[in-house]
Amino acid sequence: MSKKIEGFSKFSKAEKIEWVTQLHFDNPENAKKLISGYSHSNPSIQKLHDEFVENSLTNFYLPLGVAPNFLINGINYTIPMAIEESSVIAAASKSAKFWASRGGFKANVIGTEKIGHVHFLFKGNTEKLNLFFKTKKQSLLESTSSITENMRNRGGGIKRIILLDKTDLMEEYFQLHLTFETVDSMGANFINSCLEQIAKTLQSAALEYDDFNEEEKQIEVVMSILSNYVPGCIVHASVSCPIEQLEETKDLSSQAFAEKFIKAVEVAQKETYRAVTHNKGIMNGIDAVVMATGNDFRAVEAAAHAYASKDGIYSSLSNAYIEDNYFFFEIKLPLALGTVGGLTQLHPLVKWSMELLGNPNSRTLMEVIAVAGLAQNFAAIQSLVTSGIQRGHMKMHLLNILNQKKATEDQKEKAIVYFKTNTVSHSSVSDFLKSNS
Ligand code: MEV
Repeated sequence: MSKKIEGFSKFSKAEKIEWVTQLHFDNPENAKKLISGYSHSNPSIQKLHDEFVENSLTNFYLPLGVAPNFLINGINYTIPMAIEESSVIAAASKSAKFWASRGGFKANVIGTEKIGHVHFLFKGNTEKLNLFFKTKKQSLLESTSSITENMRNRGGGIKRIILLDKTDLMEEYFQLHLTFETVDSMGANFINSCLEQIAKTLQSAALEYDDFNEEEKQIEVVMSILSNYVPGCIVHASVSCPIEQLEETKDLSSQAFAEKFIKAVEVAQKETYRAVTHNKGIMNGIDAVVMATGNDFRAVEAAAHAYASKDGIYSSLSNAYIEDNYFFFEIKLPLALGTVGGLTQLHPLVKWSMELLGNPNSRTLMEVIAVAGLAQNFAAIQSLVTSGIQRGHMKMHLLNILNQKKATEDQKEKAIVYFKTNTVSHSSVSDFLKSNS
C-alpha cells in the first residue's frame, strides 16, 4: 500500500487510525492500542480536543505541575506550568521561595501595543501615494468599523495607521503599518481581519483615485498579516535585596556570589553562544506558563528572540547589577498574551490554570509569566555559578533514568534515598539497580 493518500481529512477518526497504523508500524495493533490509550475517557472532552485541529488521532500529554510561593507585587500566586523538563518546576519553586522572603518579585507592564501590516507594491510617484494615503486614511480606518466595534467597546481597537516607504529594502515595496490595542485578547484574528479589510479598501480606493495614472491605480497587496514582533508589548520584572541577604556557599560569600552572578549575566549579554542558552533557560519558565494558560508559545518565542537581537547582537533578556549594596536582577521582554478568546475558555485545563492564577487579565498574566522567566533564570545562574547545573538537574532526572531502566517501585524508593547523597549518572544508577535487584 502506498503511503500517499488523497482525502485523508475526510476519513472518520477510526479510518485515519487504521490507515496510519497499518501503513507505518511494525505492529499496527500495538500502535492502535497506544493511540486509543491516550484518548480521553470522557467523549465530550475528547471531541473538544479533536475539534481544535484537523486529523486529530489522540492526545499528546505533558505534565501539568505547579510552582507555589510566588510573591508578585505583594500577591501570592501558585503558578501552573506545563512542561516535560525534569528540573524546571523544581527550580521555579526554589527561586519563588527564596525571593518570597526577600520582598518578592515586582513586575509592571510597559506597553501593550500590537502591530500588523498590509505589505503592498506600488508602481509610481511616491508623493502621490503619500497624498492618497493622507486623503484616504480615515476611510481606510472606517472600513473596519464593524470589525472593531466590540474591541472599541472594550477599550481597544486600531490606534494608529501610517504609510511606510520600504523601497530601500525592495523595489516598489510599501507598508501600511498599524498599531493595535487588543485588551485581554491576544488579538491575532482581530488584527488579521482588520488588515484584510484595510487591504481591500486600499485597493478599491486606489482604483477610484483620479490623481493616480492607470499603473498607480493597480496597488498589489502582497499580504496582510500581524507581526509577532511586538517591541511595544513589553513587561518588566525584577527582584532585589541587600547583598548580605543572598545565600552564602562554602566557597562564595554573598558579595562574591553577587559579583559572579553579574559576570555570568554579562557573559550572556556579550556572547551569543551563552546568550542563547541563557535565554533558553528563561523560556523554560515562560513557555511552561504560556502553555498552561493556552497561549501561543511559538509567537512568544519568536518575539522574545527577535527582541533579544534588537540592538544588533543576540543578547541576554535579563540584566543584573549592584547598586548601594543591593543586588538587582531584572528582565524585560515582549509577551503578547490573551486571557480571553483562543483556547482560554475552551480547554478545561487552561480554564483550571486561569482560575488557579485568580483569572488574571492579560496585563497581570504578562507580569506573572515574566516573573516565571526571571525566577527560572535566577535558579539556573545560581546553580551554574555555584554547584554547577548537573547536580540539581540529574537529581530531578533520576526518576526518568529509573523508568528507562525499568526499576521497580521498591527500587525507585530506595534509589531516591540513596541518591540524596550520591552523584546521579546513568552508570551509577545501573550499578545501584544491579546491587539492589
Ligand atoms: C536547561 O534547560 C537550561 C539551562 O541550560 C539554562 C542556562 O544555562 O542558563 C540550565
